[in-house]
Amino acid sequence: GKSGYDHFMLKEINEQPTALRQCLSGRVDEVSGGVTVDELDDLDTPSAVQFVACGTSYHAALYATTLLHEVGIPANAYLASEYATTHPPLPNDTLVVGITQSGETADTLSALRNAESRGAETLALTNVVGSSAARECDHALYLRAGPEIGVAATKTFSSQLVGVNLLVERLRPSGSPTGELRSLIAGLRDLPGHVQQVLDDSTALELVDELFGAEAFFFIGRGLHYPVALEGALKFKEITYEHAEGFAAGELKHGPLALVTENTPVFAIVTGDDEEARKTLGNIKEVEARDAPVVAVTDGKAEVERYADYVLEIPETHERTSPVLANVQLQLVAYHMAARLGRSIDKPRNLAKSVTVE
Ligand code: M6R
Repeated sequence: GKSGYDHFMLKEINEQPTALRQCLSGRVDEVSGGVTVDELDDLDTPSAVQFVACGTSYHAALYATTLLHEVGIPANAYLASEYATTHPPLPNDTLVVGITQSGETADTLSALRNAESRGAETLALTNVVGSSAARECDHALYLRAGPEIGVAATKTFSSQLVGVNLLVERLRPSGSPTGELRSLIAGLRDLPGHVQQVLDDSTALELVDELFGAEAFFFIGRGLHYPVALEGALKFKEITYEHAEGFAAGELKHGPLALVTENTPVFAIVTGDDEEARKTLGNIKEVEARDAPVVAVTDGKAEVERYADYVLEIPETHERTSPVLANVQLQLVAYHMAARLGRSIDKPRNLAKSVTVE
């Protein structure tokens, strides 16, 4: 049942701290600073990784490529439906990873089969033990998020981002600085508690009243926050039926800025106070100058408050875990807007939980 929640989606949003604890359980060791994933014991570091996935899982794949680049492994993310159509070349020793919550998405299975038939080693990052993807791939890494009933992926996306961290640390070529790994492990250890803090303190509900009736909703982010901008927009359009789009912050001025008016709220994700954050701040000024309402999703370090009309706060944490927290805020915004519009939140029109046709 829904355990007293109005919708499975809200229940599953609130289950995230538990889901993340389960995902991490026994897999990170704070003392040794190590990551172990029992089911991946026989996996070697490949020379390159290709991800195939759809929808929300594709956003996790985009995030994953940036992490692999950080540890020096070339990686690409492909929409599964396109991969099976364009079959990119598979250099020797490439690992092909299908990210699929259900493990039953036809496009993803077809891309994995295509890679397998060309001799690649394959891995499924999935929530469902015994799913087709888990059975067909050479390796499987399980999310342990528990069943997700709502069509909108919520807790499984957060778990995918954590799962991807485990995978990348497992693949990290040896000899990398351990200090770096220790601070990541601390960020992962604190993540369930930080998510709980966001759930307890979020002002997303009040915000929805302010933004109700807007013409379109835009989401921008840079680096690891770019996939979250795409995911924020996907979740929003999926359950509110309102027009929403996500953009890389730096791409705004290459076209999308023409859409920005006082009737198009822009959600901007910006954390830390480095060069990357300063650049996003510049993009925020560009939309603010067009009178768009700006909602900053931020840890407060970038001093974005001066240019933002509204702030959704997240705790300060490791740069790899802050996208998870920003995304929880955007889940709540989408949920409350959809509830306010009286939408069929758990079963949005025209959509299915798992898409078993290509
Ligand atoms: O089960 P999968 O992860 O393979 O599903 C992929 C997409 O169909 C799925 O993420 C879809 O985009 C969600 N409904 C988005 O909330």
